Amino acid sequence: MANRKKIGLIGAGNIGGELARLCANAELGDVVLFDIPAKENFAKGKALDLEQNGSVLGYDAKITGSGNWADLEGADVLIVTAGIPRKPGQSRDDLVAVNLPIIRDVAQNAKKHCPSAFVIVISNPLDAMVYEYKRVTGCPKGMIVGMAGVLDSARFQLFLAREAGVSIKDVRAMVLGGHGDDMVPVLSMCTINSIPATNFIPVERMNAIIDRTRKGGGEIVNLMGTSAYYAPASSAVAMATAYLHDQKRLLPCAAYLEGEYGYQDLFIGVPAIIGGKGVEKIVELPLTAEEKGMLAKSAKSVQSVVDVCKKS
Ligand SMILES: NC(=O)c1ccc[n+]([C@@H]2O[C@H](COP(=O)([O-])OP(=O)(O)OC[C@H]3O[C@@H](n4cnc5c(N)ncnc54)[C@H](O)[C@@H]3O)[C@@H](O)[C@H]2O)c1
Repeated sequence: MANRKKIGLIGAGNIGGELARLCANAELGDVVLFDIPAKENFAKGKALDLEQNGSVLGYDAKITGSGNWADLEGADVLIVTAGIPRKPGQSRDDLVAVNLPIIRDVAQNAKKHCPSAFVIVISNPLDAMVYEYKRVTGCPKGMIVGMAGVLDSARFQLFLAREAGVSIKDVRAMVLGGHGDDMVPVLSMCTINSIPATNFIPVERMNAIIDRTRKGGGEIVNLMGTSAYYAPASSAVAMATAYLHDQKRLLPCAAYLEGEYGYQDLFIGVPAIIGGKGVEKIVELPLTAEEKGMLAKSAKSVQSVVDVCKKS
C-alpha cells in the first residue's frame, strides 16, 4: 500500500463530496476530506458514507474525514473548494471579501503540511483565488492551476452538441480567459469531428450559445440557489488524473502566465498540457483579432479582482 497516492480535498461541501466519490470510484488514491473544525464531524460522516459506498461499488480507496491539517501531510494532490458559493443575484467577484481570508488560511496551512502537492483551486472568484494561493505559498508555477476552463468548455460543448443534433463525443471546443461573464469561447477552434462548428450552427444561434455559456454557472445558481457541483468536480478530477497518470492532456485551465498571450504575473484560462510534472507547457493559439480583444477584456476584469486582493 506504500505506493497509494494521497488526495487532499480542502472543503467537504457539495463539490468536495462529489470529488471524494469520483476519486475513490476511479481508485485515484486514498482521500482525506478536510473541513473547518465546526464541520469536522460532517466531513467524517460524509467520508464514512463514501467508504461504505465502496463496499457496494467495489472500490478499496480509504476515505478519511478530518479537521486536522496534520492528516493531509504528504498529499500528492490538493483540490481546494474551501469557501462560500454564489447565491442567486451574486457574481463570482462578489465572493472575494468572504473567500479571500479562507484561501489565505488554506494556503498557509498547505504550505506547511503539503508543500509538494499538485494543487487545483476551485474556489471563486477563481482566477484571483489561485493567484492568491500562489502568492502566499510561493509554490512553483507548474504545480498550481485553477479549474474553470474544463467546466466552461464542457458547458459550451454540451450546448453546441444539442443545437447541432450530434453526439457530445464529437464536439471539441475551448473556453479561455477568466472564469467570469466575459470568458472567451474560442469559436475559431470549435469543431464537430474536425468540421468547423459554424458549418452546422447559424451565427445567431451561435451567439445565443456563447451567451448561455458565459452565464452557464449563473443559470444553475438561479435554479438551485447554490453553485453547480457535479460537472465542476468531474472537471477537477480530469485535471488531477492527468497529473497522477502523467497523461499529457491538453486542457484549458487557469495557469500562471509569464509573457504567454502577452500577459505577465496573472492566472487566466489558457490551454495547458498537464502531465506528471504538473503544468508542463502552455500552448499559444493563433487567436483572431476579435478573440484577442475578448481575452484582453477578460484579463482586465481578472486583474481588477487581483488588485483588490493585493490591497486587502
Ligand atoms: N471554479 C469553478 O468552476 C467553480 C464551479 C462551482 C463552484 N465553485 C466555487 O467552489 C467553492 C465551493 O463550492 P461548494 O458548492 O462546494 O460550496 P459548499 O459551501 O458546499 O462547500 C464549501 C466548504 O468549504 C468549507 N470551508 C470554509 N472555510 C474553510 C477553510 N478555511 N478550510 C477548509 N474548508 C473550509 C465550508 O465549511 C464548506 O463545507 C465556492 O467558492 C464556489 O463558488 C467554483
